[in-house]
Amino acid sequence: MIETVPILVTVNGTRHVLDVEPRMHAADLLRGMLGLTGTHVGCEQGVCGMCTILLDGTAVKGCLLLAPQLDGCEVETVEGLATGEELAPLQRAFKEAHALQCGFCTPGFLMAATALERSGRRLTREEIREELSGVLCRCTGYEGIVRAVERRLTGG
Ligand code: FES
Ligand code: FES
Repeated sequence: MIETVPILVTVNGTRHVLDVEPRMHAADLLRGMLGLTGTHVGCEQGVCGMCTILLDGTAVKGCLLLAPQLDGCEVETVEGLATGEELAPLQRAFKEAHALQCGFCTPGFLMAATALERSGRRLTREEIREELSGVLCRCTGYEGIVRAVERRLTGG
């Protein structure tokens, strides 16, 4: 029998006391134990960014964290962005700028962009591209995504 570790983690504002397997990925905890399937798992090597979440406000790759490392932390996932039916301003900006890609990569972009938006930094288009380079999509030139983030960083 695999021994489990008790953790207390707050996810999208809700506290959870969980018994987790020591080698479980944080992304698998979110998806499998909490049903938050907006966090996707692609490469499991920290490359694709599909599993990007916020850990105490910092964008991190959920596949590179073990579930016990979430103990005592605040986690945010894409499910926490909207308030009920009301999209967050960043989500609206994505919609308006035609930045929405597929359901697999868009949550990663949104979480990476949320961290950028909250940083309050004014960035050039090239810097925005650089900051979002941890999330990969081979199906886009990133133009809409950069436009949406640019809009938010300039208060639009
Ligand atoms: S699944 Fe985590 S970076 Fe690809
Ligand atoms: S991976 Fe989502 S559209 Fe390319």
